[in-house]
Amino acid sequence: MKPTITSLLAFILLTIGIVAVIFIIILLGKNKKTRCPNFFRWGHRLAGYTFFVLYLYICYLMSLKITSDPVTWSAKDVIHAYLGLTIFPLLVAKICIVRGFKIYYHRLPLYGMVVMIAVYLTVILSGGYFLLALARSQYIVLLQQDKPVKVNVSVGRKVVQTKCTSCHSLERVYSHLKTEDEWRDYVARMQAKDPSNLTDLEELQVLGFLVKNLGIDESKMDIQIGMKIILNKCHRCHTLERVFQQKRTKSDWIKVIEMMRSFDPQLLTDSETRQVNFYLGRILLKQEKETDS
Ligand code: HEC
Ligand code: HEC
Repeated sequence: MKPTITSLLAFILLTIGIVAVIFIIILLGKNKKTRCPNFFRWGHRLAGYTFFVLYLYICYLMSLKITSDPVTWSAKDVIHAYLGLTIFPLLVAKICIVRGFKIYYHRLPLYGMVVMIAVYLTVILSGGYFLLALARSQYIVLLQQDKPVKVNVSVGRKVVQTKCTSCHSLERVYSHLKTEDEWRDYVARMQAKDPSNLTDLEELQVLGFLVKNLGIDESKMDIQIGMKIILNKCHRCHTLERVFQQKRTKSDWIKVIEMMRSFDPQLLTDSETRQVNFYLGRILLKQEKETDS
């Protein structure tokens, strides 16, 4: 069951509760002057029992959810669960009083109020939070088997934080900047190490987060910028011929630039390095095929 649907059910529950309260307030408040007391009495009763049934159904859905998804609970989830569970004995007590223990009748409005506060807090804490988070989420469109899929980046962040930390630290993940294709390879490789770690959807959400936050946008790369950096910075220790004479494969160029950076760590920033590698990979590229011959 999707969280959107359970949130919707929770809000329906809240609404039914409010309707029941309004009916009983009208009934008690206007006392005998109410025009059709039976309408409000039965309205309240109907709303009350619908509420009870829907409440039980939501409890059932929640029990499925926690048994199928063994992710550790956040403090918010724990409070939500406890609040939700308190509603049950309160409802039972209320029904018992109405059906059998009429001497406690005068306490009913109090019980009703406590139930409503518990329901309100439970729903707001989970469903309300969910809708708010949904409204504030960032999205990115990715291709999955050539079909564009809209992916929630904020969910992806959470998946990375929970699922990518079992074998190494998050630092290991966050210290890389990569293009979308490279991230695809990485995520697929990580997934291959433990295929049960991520579902297909989670894999895409992870990718969405990584591309959006740790991605290199190929379209922002510019040959001119790369050339300018080389002209400015690469003639200090040797002539520029040393650079422009050669043709190399992409991976060879990356190795050479790494070597130059090791000679002088201040030589290029990370983003300059990407621009330089982009230029070299476009203009001074040796086709992989030529290396065979
Ligand atoms: C089953 C264990 C496991 C899980 C789960 C896992 N990784 Fe890894 N990861 C590794 C190992 C082992 C390496 C080092 C070997 C390699 O690079 O393949 C690594 C290396 C990496 C690297 C390269 C680090 C470097 O310094 O070169 C990145 C980036 C990375 N993982 C990202 C992720 C992401 C993102 C996830 C979550 C989708 C993830 N990993 C989940 C085991 C795992
Ligand atoms: C701090 C000094 C220094 C700077 C700055 C420098 N290089 Fe070099 N470069 C060297 C040295 C030293 C060698 C010779 C290394 C060798 O032959 O093993 C070299 C060699 C090279 C070679 C030839 C490598 C080979 O295997 O034949 C290339 C290509 C090159 N540099 C490119 C660059 C580029 C591109 C830049 C600018 C991003 C740059 N260098 C900036 C010191 C520098």
